[in-house]
Amino acid sequence: MTQFKALVLNEISNEVVCQRQSLTIDNLSEGEVLIRVAYSSLNYKDMLAFQKNGGIIRKYPLIPGIDLSGTVISSCAERFKVGQEVLVTGFNLGITHSGGLSEVARVPAEWIVPLPERMSLRDAMVIGTAGFTAALSVLALEKGGMSALEAPKILVTGASGGVGSIAVKLLSSLGYSNITGLIRKPYQEEWVRSLGASQVVYTNTLEMSSKALEKQEYHFVLDTVGGQLLNYLIPRLYYGATMTLCGNAGGLKFETTVLPFILRAVKLIGIDSVQYPIMERSAIWEKFTQNWQEVTEIPINEIKLNDVVKTIEQLKQGNHLGRTIVKIQD
Ligand SMILES: NC(=O)c1ccc[n+]([C@@H]2O[C@H](COP(=O)([O-])OP(=O)(O)OC[C@H]3O[C@@H](n4cnc5c(N)ncnc54)[C@H](OP(=O)(O)O)[C@@H]3O)[C@@H](O)[C@H]2O)c1
Repeated sequence: MTQFKALVLNEISNEVVCQRQSLTIDNLSEGEVLIRVAYSSLNYKDMLAFQKNGGIIRKYPLIPGIDLSGTVISSCAERFKVGQEVLVTGFNLGITHSGGLSEVARVPAEWIVPLPERMSLRDAMVIGTAGFTAALSVLALEKGGMSALEAPKILVTGASGGVGSIAVKLLSSLGYSNITGLIRKPYQEEWVRSLGASQVVYTNTLEMSSKALEKQEYHFVLDTVGGQLLNYLIPRLYYGATMTLCGNAGGLKFETTVLPFILRAVKLIGIDSVQYPIMERSAIWEKFTQNWQEVTEIPINEIKLNDVVKTIEQLKQGNHLGRTIVKIQD
């Protein structure tokens, strides 16, 4: 293969511009493994990468795409053989290193996860960074004591988004029955309920207060929104509650007091999927082929490279639902 197609982000006249270009392998970042990309997926971070001052990409031109699944074309790493199916999420893919929105990618071996035996390349991207992050969050909540047997009251924020929707689906498939999805728009309600939420709450109905402790409402919270929303949620956590934080779609800063921590023993756990140790990733991906299989049944938008810019705009405008995967090969 001499030439292949990829999306390329460039800074032109002070704007970030995305073009579909014909490239050669020399245009790719360095790495031991060359991969024919089958699918990529679109995440909040991809949306930021397409924006000027998105805070994600510092050097142009760059092929975006923080996720990919595909087949090894050539490899200088013993662990990976020609023809092997693999997936990559996180690290610097699509950030400082040429990413997955390309027919071919070249990636360092230490970023690559062998595709689990009973997983398709498509399903790997249905899950993608969003699903992997939802999984890390659910595992952290279970480590904090969450058990379906006790039917705890769980809140998932940003429940209409990629991480949030997979989290709701994963929790309901694990038998959790008391799941509330926090959403912003009426058209999202049916979708979030169909994934397994028994209640939805609209952000515009939340009554903010400045009290350090409020009536206890949630045993576990899986937050993807961050920012000022936490001012509302932390005082409402039950005694001994655990809350995971993975996102900042709603902002960076929040205010709290020590009281929920010292009087109610609540725990806040940070989730990071990007630098998560490579040696521990396969075990999590394997779970999606075992007791977490239902997650891949989530309804998905599937698009081609040509449609990426339009979908990125929907993510930016906040009128995108759930997950979008990108089929790379025609
Ligand atoms: N820590 C990690 O490793 C990791 C990994 C993946 C993602 N993340 C982060 O997790 C977050 C979600 O990612 P994603 O890919 O799921 O994004 P997404 O698909 O764009 O979903 C974002 C969700 O947040 C909601 N939202 C945005 N602003 C909000 C606000 N001010 N108040 C309440 N809800 C708001 C959106 O609602 P609308 O649809 O109504 O706009 C949507 O449900 C992002 O901040 C992302 O950076 C972190």
